[in-house]
Amino acid sequence: MTTVTYRYDLAADGDAAAIAELHARSWQASYRGILPDAFLDGDVVAERTEKWTARFADRAGTLTVVARDDAGRLAGFAHSVLDDDAAWGTLLDNLHVRPDLKGQGVGRRLVAETAARLGVVAPGRGLYLWVIEANEPARRFYAAAGGEEAGRDVWDEYGVDVPIVRMSWRSLDALAGAGR
Ligand SMILES: CC(C)(COP(=O)(O)OP(=O)(O)OC[C@H]1O[C@@H](n2cnc3c(N)ncnc32)[C@H](O)[C@@H]1OP(=O)(O)O)[C@@H](O)C(=O)NCCC(=O)NCCS
Repeated sequence: MTTVTYRYDLAADGDAAAIAELHARSWQASYRGILPDAFLDGDVVAERTEKWTARFADRAGTLTVVARDDAGRLAGFAHSVLDDDAAWGTLLDNLHVRPDLKGQGVGRRLVAETAARLGVVAPGRGLYLWVIEANEPARRFYAAAGGEEAGRDVWDEYGVDVPIVRMSWRSLDALAGAGR
């Protein structure tokens, strides 16, 4: 059996399209029944490409870590907005592993690499994110990583009200050591 190893780096400017494609495929695989079928069955890649192209046009204040396989193909990414909130700290805005590569430790390592880098560029700040309430696998993943539930809200960007839960890490120390 061959073991695939992954490299963890900051995203390059040219990664926007590959990130958008992985993001779209991950939503289509994991958000069925959460986001509208009409949206998920549409051109999600185009919608995400527009978003990521705009994001990568000005990357100031953000940190995007990618995992690549031996051939340089994207296996996952973690995108953070530094010092997003005075109380909660840096926002981990997106974390996605290619659907066929889930459960191999890539997600945990992306979080660890992100936390380690944040320890340098945003020391002493916490980390938080919003996870969809119905996304139970991701909520278990974050709970296993030491995240604590800290409030609720509703995400309504796509024409439906999606309940979301805030997960918070007051310290990055334990996260930075996990999976590395
Ligand atoms: C959530 C996600 C990022 C996790 O990444 P992953 O690579 O699949 O997870 P890992 O293999 O790194 O798992 C790390 C640990 O969490 C545990 N874990 C992962 N998924 C789990 C689940 N569904 N239930 C319980 N534990 C889980 C693993 O057992 C592992 O624990 P261990 O290190 O003690 O063995 C990934 O599954 C994903 O992209 N999901 C779809 C998109 C999504 O929901 N993103 C989050 C949006 S907020």
